[in-house]
Amino acid sequence: VPTLDELALTLKDIGLSEVPQAPNTYPNFNPVDIYRSHLTDLLAPITGVEPKIIYPVLQWTQTLDMGDIVLPVPALRLKGKKPDTLAQEFGTKFPESPLVEKPLVKGTYLQFFFKPQPLARLILPSILKAGPSFGFNPKLGLRDPSDSSQGKKRIIVEFSSPNIAKPFHAGHLRSTIIGGFLANLYEAAGWDVIRMNYLGDWGKQYGVLALGFERFGSEEELLRNPIGHLYDVYVKISAIAHEENEKIKAKKEEIKALQANNEIITEQEVELQRMVDESTDEAARGYFKRMVDGDKDAVDIWKRFRDLSIERYKQTYARLNIQYDVYSGESQVSDESMEAAATTMAEKGVSEDSEGAVIVDLTKINKKLGKAVVKKKDGTSLYLTRDIGAAFERYDKYKFDKMIYVVASQQDLHLAQLFAIEGAMGRKDVAEKCQHINFGMVLGMSTRKGTAKFLDDILRDVGDKMHEVMRSNEEKYKQVEDPDRTADTLGISAVMVQDMKGKRINNYEFDMDRMCSFEGDTGPYLQYAHARLCSITRKANLSQEEIESADSSLLTEKHAVDLIRSLSQWPDVFINTVKTQEPTTVLTYLFKMTHSVSSSYDHLQVVGSEPELKKARLALYTCARQVLNNGMRLLGLNPVERM
Ligand code: ARG
Repeated sequence: VPTLDELALTLKDIGLSEVPQAPNTYPNFNPVDIYRSHLTDLLAPITGVEPKIIYPVLQWTQTLDMGDIVLPVPALRLKGKKPDTLAQEFGTKFPESPLVEKPLVKGTYLQFFFKPQPLARLILPSILKAGPSFGFNPKLGLRDPSDSSQGKKRIIVEFSSPNIAKPFHAGHLRSTIIGGFLANLYEAAGWDVIRMNYLGDWGKQYGVLALGFERFGSEEELLRNPIGHLYDVYVKISAIAHEENEKIKAKKEEIKALQANNEIITEQEVELQRMVDESTDEAARGYFKRMVDGDKDAVDIWKRFRDLSIERYKQTYARLNIQYDVYSGESQVSDESMEAAATTMAEKGVSEDSEGAVIVDLTKINKKLGKAVVKKKDGTSLYLTRDIGAAFERYDKYKFDKMIYVVASQQDLHLAQLFAIEGAMGRKDVAEKCQHINFGMVLGMSTRKGTAKFLDDILRDVGDKMHEVMRSNEEKYKQVEDPDRTADTLGISAVMVQDMKGKRINNYEFDMDRMCSFEGDTGPYLQYAHARLCSITRKANLSQEEIESADSSLLTEKHAVDLIRSLSQWPDVFINTVKTQEPTTVLTYLFKMTHSVSSSYDHLQVVGSEPELKKARLALYTCARQVLNNGMRLLGLNPVERM
């Protein structure tokens, strides 16, 4: 970013003797902060209101025709005169400024428009200088923003968290996309981010899986396709277990009927016992017990399944630009931490015995939270128990300032129970740092080859679809260098943008045709916009120095001015996104901005313009490309340069 001294020089040229800087603002990261500080300086004497009240009520606008910044006069909470009368008064008294036009008075609002020339002089160099980090603000994550030696705040983002040998369903897909985005977001805000994958890799079902592998497993298949093969094995053995259980059920019914008739049942009971003893379920229970007890053979084979699955997951996540710092999982939660939690819960009267099991009655805190089992009759732990132990373990190990669980809203109750139990245990320090980021469902997620089971299948299918769409434009298709790779990247963008377009909590329809279209607000559209900007740069063929020395005062057309105004909003959009934690905040902006770029092409040609004008326009497009690129990367997309 430009230094404050560099900014001061530019501002002096524009006509301001010093850099206006309200407390806790970042003029060199966000040029619009300069405007807010400047407006505050001018408005304080006119309104008689304290600067610290004015600054925070200066709002950004939804559309450029409403101005760049507005002041809702009622927000100043002035007594006496009516707000619209005050607005008129302030409008008239507002002095000449080198940065902003005289405000327009609209009812109780003052609309401020940035003067185009000074704005271009501030914004374009800021973007060119900050480049890939323009708009991001690494100071937000500092423990003390004025003293970086105090270090960064630390956040754990737990996301994706699929279950080994089970399908990767839509909930995992959304968690992966949204979690990847949130991790990027906090990183761009200067936090120390730990990306964690908490695998479902523990419980009796892994005993079932091991037995299944003994019967149906293939070493070769396991190495070739661990995730798919383990799933197939699990499906087969589960079917057998299910059938056995049905027979056991039938036998029990039979015995009941005999008993009702007062018939002798000894023989039948012996038979039933034999069925139970020989069942897959029983064997799996025994197997899992060996795993719990740390039996080497049992643990080794399970660990192999886990390690091979993780290796494969890593490759798939890489396609989405995601790398985890930690592959944790339910299996990794230590008995000690769960026992310690159990002791605290008992001592604090949080938990109670209930027919041999241990439960926590959360209805005392909130009726909706219900009662939760934390230990089964047979003494084994549950999903919730492991989450309790894991949270404390993570806190001890990472001393996080914040921890986010990115999990579908189907698990709202589970996470609410988890946080409530932490609080009841007297661990508000942990509970208050935890947040559940939830999201709605994907409706109708199936691929052409049936219901989607694995992430790779989904990505392959959208890639194929994208390839088809690309082929429909014969001319263009011939120019694409590596069509397979491009189709793959575009397909991934299609899925991700469709997922992040709406508010997280909304459900959406998985619509392959719509998401893969180049028209409308889609991933391929954004990619196309990016590739087109890259192509303009290639064709113009100017050096970096030429672009940086461009004379921005030549950018006078309405299209140019509006695009610059739109670009100036990006740092505010970023800050706002940190508040909303919604990817749609970024996407809505990127679509607006790229529409503004598209409508400029006819009016602001680069090739064929006078040399100086060509430079200035290319500088503008370069800045637009940079902002689009930064936004796309923040979302986790891989911007393409050609397509
Ligand atoms: N593996 C779980 C599932 O597929 C999601 C885990 C969510 N995270 C957690 N800490 N409970 O449903």
